[in-house]
Amino acid sequence: MQSLGLWQWIEKEDVGSTNDEALALSREVKSGNYVVTAKRQNNGRGRRGRSWVGYEGNLFMSFLQPVELSKIGQIVFVVSLSLFESLQELFPKIDMKLKWPNDVLVENNKISGILLEKGEGDYLVIGIGVNLVGAPKLEGVLYPATSLQDKGYHIDRLTLFKKYVEIYDKNCRLWQEQGFAPIREKWLQNVKGLGEEIEVHTDKETKLGIFRDVDENGVLLLERKNGLEKIYAGDIFYIDKKK
Ligand code: BTN
Repeated sequence: MQSLGLWQWIEKEDVGSTNDEALALSREVKSGNYVVTAKRQNNGRGRRGRSWVGYEGNLFMSFLQPVELSKIGQIVFVVSLSLFESLQELFPKIDMKLKWPNDVLVENNKISGILLEKGEGDYLVIGIGVNLVGAPKLEGVLYPATSLQDKGYHIDRLTLFKKYVEIYDKNCRLWQEQGFAPIREKWLQNVKGLGEEIEVHTDKETKLGIFRDVDENGVLLLERKNGLEKIYAGDIFYIDKKK
């Protein structure tokens, strides 16, 4: 274990899932902030019961930190914004947007994923995967995933990891000291589709409306015929080019 910023860092060779490693750690420790990274991940999990394919050379990292229950809706914005800002610092010309609730798009394709899972006690596990060298090529998917390498951007996983920790630490301090407002502001400046018509796919239905805002808990506010509707979970699709 080594210290890195606010974190005790554990680097593994092979894991099933870095989130599982962090969850196991949450049962052993009582305090402190930890982060687990791995060279290879063979059984990664994604949101909404999906799996996450892990190519060697991609970045797999899971942060373990105490977070109040009422702040869980906000932290995903701190996380995705920090990834956005890290990549922007490393590649100033990159064409990149955020996508609600927690994706980063490069040239309109998803390059990363974030999965939050509740650990022991107050601990939250924040798993982040970034496709640096490869992404699964799935047929018939509306929004295919891509990798930075596919888009012509080359970076090794530990360089991005260390930059991410630096920026995430800064944004966590900003969040702690000034609350959610400055994070939300920066996130909204860089999100795709704000003020535009979108389609939201929830588990049960598809809803059409204008993407107006996110509230203080990160809930999407969708303007529909009868007023603003709160969207707590789902996948969004942009109407213009289905991107
Ligand atoms: C998504 O579906 O978009 C979220 C994907 C999250 C993948 C990361 S990779 C590191 C961590 N370990 C996991 O098993 N999942 C997360």
